[in-house]
Amino acid sequence: MRIILLGPPGAGKGTQAVRLVERLGIPQLSTGDMLRAAVAAGTPIGLKAKAIMDTGQLVSDDVVVGIVADRIEEEDARKGFILDGFPRTTYQAEQLEAITSPGHIDLAIYLEIPTEVVLGRLAGRRVCTECGTNYSPQSPPKAGTRCDVCGGEVVQRKDDTEGAIRRRLTLYEQETAPLIAWYQGHDKLVTVDAVGHPDEVNARLIRAIDDRRQAIPVPPPARPTRTTNA
Ligand code: AP5
Repeated sequence: MRIILLGPPGAGKGTQAVRLVERLGIPQLSTGDMLRAAVAAGTPIGLKAKAIMDTGQLVSDDVVVGIVADRIEEEDARKGFILDGFPRTTYQAEQLEAITSPGHIDLAIYLEIPTEVVLGRLAGRRVCTECGTNYSPQSPPKAGTRCDVCGGEVVQRKDDTEGAIRRRLTLYEQETAPLIAWYQGHDKLVTVDAVGHPDEVNARLIRAIDDRRQAIPVPPPARPTRTTNA
């Protein structure tokens, strides 16, 4: 399946994508993670993206579409993927249609959540600088500021400051929220309540995905090709 997770910063897209990877056996394609990896590696894209990301603005459409187009071509994404943080503009959604053609997106899941919940989550989020594992005040790293998974340093993200969070939320409303209606218009949208324990939210997502799977018509078996004997 090809799934999009839509929702404001802090809705839990990354948290849920990781759980869905385990469940569905398809990769998470997070543009935020890919861009942060480019920044850490000091690539030309990373050098350009760093200041934009730190201040909570959007990286240019063409750069992000290019990254996704390349990633979708990789072997592990052939049987499906979970897009986390992409598309974020109508232009990106249109380009996604073009780069996945003649395939298609099966489902866009909108993680619905009140702004005050998001603000609390982002203020409390800490991430591992090495492997990207997320922590919250409810589930902090067991070893203080060291990651449980890899031992890396656990810090606050540069774009989780008050000013950057405000800018990200404003941009979300202006640029990304219109995609909810866009995917509704394409009959791809399912809304899921993103408030509650991550396991409860995940159970809602799995139900939404299973419902959509059952609604997808099974293609008829391919007819055997005729061989002609000389
Ligand atoms: P990106 O990394 O995609 O950031 P974002 O969309 O702002 O999303 P977040 O990662 O902040 O939140 P999330 O929804 O994944 O929540 P999470 O699971 O972490 O993008 C970063 C930047 O890259 C952008 O600002 C932009 O500059 C650039 N960029 C990326 N994609 C782009 C694109 N397509 N176009 C242009 N620019 C792009 O959860 C948040 C916290 O809450 C965590 O601490 C978590 O532990 C906790 N939590 C999660 N779920 C729950 C729950 N159910 N209950 C309690 N706590 C929870």
